[in-house]
Amino acid sequence: SPVREFLRCLPKCEHHIHLEGALTPDVLFSLAAKNNITLPQDDEAFKSPASLLERYQSFTSLDDFLHYYYIGMSALVTASDFEDLAWDYFQHASADGVVHAEVFFDPQAHTARGIKYNTVIEGFTHACKRAEKELGITTLLTCCFLRHLPPKDCLELFEDEDVQKSYKSGVVQAIGLDSSEKPFPPENFTELYRKANALGLKLTAHAGEEAPASYISSALRNLGVTRIDHGIQLVNDPELMHKVASEKTMLTVCPLSNVVLRCVDTIKDVPIRKLLDAGVQFSINSDDPAYFGGYILDNYVAVHEAFALSVKEWESVVRAGIEGSWCGAARKEQLL
Ligand code: HPA
Ligand code: ZN
Repeated sequence: SPVREFLRCLPKCEHHIHLEGALTPDVLFSLAAKNNITLPQDDEAFKSPASLLERYQSFTSLDDFLHYYYIGMSALVTASDFEDLAWDYFQHASADGVVHAEVFFDPQAHTARGIKYNTVIEGFTHACKRAEKELGITTLLTCCFLRHLPPKDCLELFEDEDVQKSYKSGVVQAIGLDSSEKPFPPENFTELYRKANALGLKLTAHAGEEAPASYISSALRNLGVTRIDHGIQLVNDPELMHKVASEKTMLTVCPLSNVVLRCVDTIKDVPIRKLLDAGVQFSINSDDPAYFGGYILDNYVAVHEAFALSVKEWESVVRAGIEGSWCGAARKEQLL
């Protein structure tokens, strides 16, 4: 359609995509077979890729999704598994008109089952370099910590020699916080973020996806984040919303994710119009494209169908995404 083509051609930046969330049921099953990983036999959903995909249509919550997400990624074992996964995402992103991608990964979900951090990094960095070279997409890797795990475990990974090397060499340039949101508030991770900030890493955290706006204010105040992932509950705290708007803190909104995980009833309940009216900067993202039924362009199209943004409004959304990116000033100039 002409609208889809208009949206495809916009120079889009993606800031909220979990690479492990790009694992489709087909790839999951073929990797599990290759790597001799046994999938749960007591869950009918794992009978076939088709039945698994069907189960993805009826998530009831963030935690219901995360159960499948962590099982799925257990099929990833070798560096080339990680590389293929990320390369598959970058090809989709490029076809959708993404020019800059800041991507999340969840190292603790892999190290916990005996996969080396450097194996994950090797695969993902190869794919990033290939995306830069062959697709012209600039990339940035964000190391996410799992908030349902004890903060001391997160600190231990952070201090690991290989992890520190990836930060100091610039291979990983940011940290994030994800997984089950309630009851794991941001302030549990104050020390981790203080240490990451001291290394000059960029800081973001999932906040206000399922949990209330107080998680957003805590992430800003206690973690010093300069970005909020999801953040849709911000609209329930007008005073905080005005502060976020005036400080130009960007939210990375994931509309299809919010619907599929039942954070909102329908796409019309994603607070796109409220954020625009309040002058809050936000980008539109896919979160876990293989699980939520769409890559970034599907999210843009869904937002347009629900909110009919004007050309000027779309241009302002895309500009906010460029300005809120963590690429260098020179790259931003190119994109603007
Ligand atoms: N929220 C929290 N953790 C996640 C998500 C999400 O939307 N996707 C992958 N891990
Ligand atoms: Zn997410």
